[in-house]
Amino acid sequence: MKRPHVMFTGTGRAVPKRIMTNHDFAAIGIETDDAWIVDRTGIRQRHVAGPGESLTSLAAEASKTAMAAAGVNAAEIDAIVMATVSPDHLLPAAAVEVQAAIGASRAAAFDVDAACTGWIYAVVVAEGLIATGNAETVLVIGGEVLTRIVNWKDRNTCVLFGDGVGATIVKRATKGKGLLSSYLRTDGTLAKLLWRPAGGGEMAASDATIADGSFWVHMQGREVFKHAVRSMADACERALDGAKLSADSVDLVIPHQANVRIIEATAKHANISMDKVYVNVDRYGNTSAGSIPIALDECIRSGRITDGSTVMFVGFGAGFTWGSLIVRF
Ligand code: ACO
Repeated sequence: MKRPHVMFTGTGRAVPKRIMTNHDFAAIGIETDDAWIVDRTGIRQRHVAGPGESLTSLAAEASKTAMAAAGVNAAEIDAIVMATVSPDHLLPAAAVEVQAAIGASRAAAFDVDAACTGWIYAVVVAEGLIATGNAETVLVIGGEVLTRIVNWKDRNTCVLFGDGVGATIVKRATKGKGLLSSYLRTDGTLAKLLWRPAGGGEMAASDATIADGSFWVHMQGREVFKHAVRSMADACERALDGAKLSADSVDLVIPHQANVRIIEATAKHANISMDKVYVNVDRYGNTSAGSIPIALDECIRSGRITDGSTVMFVGFGAGFTWGSLIVRF
């Protein structure tokens, strides 16, 4: 079947109320400083979920905003596809909790775990559901409360992440608008460069795994950096080839927001000028599966994306997974 099958008809985002700046780490005994974090990552602050805030509550808020923007009510949603690695509960899926929270009683609901590339994977799953006639209206959510799975004693990781959720309504495409190309890849041989050693079936959560840190996120930052740049540059090229477009014909690139240096190096490798690249990592930190749909919602609401804009999305994350989409709005 010829693309586009699907388009985005509404977006929303939600972040916790509390903002933690780089200066706030000193108060919790982390030896770091604003200049180190800004120079290495571009991050100045992140949102941190507090009491009463959860992945489900943020996802429900973002979803309601996206539904209002799309003019869709809960009963019209056929499927909820949720990308996350930080669910409120390990069983059942996070999407199930959102389904109940927004009252989407007809919707099939399930999660996609592709870490920071999760929203890109989830959009492609939604496209499949629509193209095969399994759904007409899909709520695609990407988001995290990563601050609840990072080790707050490990300065190598805790300064990088933040909490937030983005939601997107995906429907059948009309008038040639929508998803023009996609590219998805994984290299599981590199899984242990960014992972949580304990907490799953192999090594259960316990006082010992919490005390030795193996319950939390572990990362080899330099290796991640190297692979992220190479893979995201590759994904840009593949998505452009798939859509038969040149980099010049793309109006905007929305990359996964992990680190401004990764974003700049990717743009350089892909021959894309930074004035076409959206960056908000300074305000949110790395919200993993949330980063791209949050940025998309900002771009739509600020008018950076308008009718006819051609936008490339590119992501990279634990797995390693990486991927890209090109969408005409
Ligand atoms: N504050 C101050 N010093 C720190 C901090 C900190 N927060 N964290 C680490 N350091 C120290 C290290 O201990 C080390 O000290 P040492 O030399 O005395 O041992 C020194 O800084 C250099 O550490 P490196 O890890 O070599 O620093 P690097 O320049 O590689 O920067 C960083 C680290 C920012 C993590 C970088 O490797 C990076 O950005 N990697 C990508 C990781 C990423 O973005 N992951 C997100 C998840 S994956 C994704 O979303 C794409």
